[in-house]
Amino acid sequence: MKRVDIDGRRYLIVNADGRIYAVDDLCSHEEVSLYLGCIEGDSIKCSLHGSRFSLKSGEPLDEPATEPIKTYPTKISSDLIYLHVE
Ligand code: FES
Repeated sequence: MKRVDIDGRRYLIVNADGRIYAVDDLCSHEEVSLYLGCIEGDSIKCSLHGSRFSLKSGEPLDEPATEPIKTYPTKISSDLIYLHVE
């Protein structure tokens, strides 16, 4: 997992079992960095209260989080990872 800053906003680039995902760095429950959490399969787990979020959809898989995190399409070309952020 890598954290990148683009135009003042932080994103996480995650390699989960060889698949590359991009998600917002902040948990939707409280504004805590998910970078402090861990990857479990194709989900990311928040270190503060333990909610997991799908890396594919951003949907929360456990409480207390009830809102999704934002996910972003990625593309790999010439060993570079591109994010489509709006
Ligand atoms: S701050 Fe992430 S689950 Fe509470």
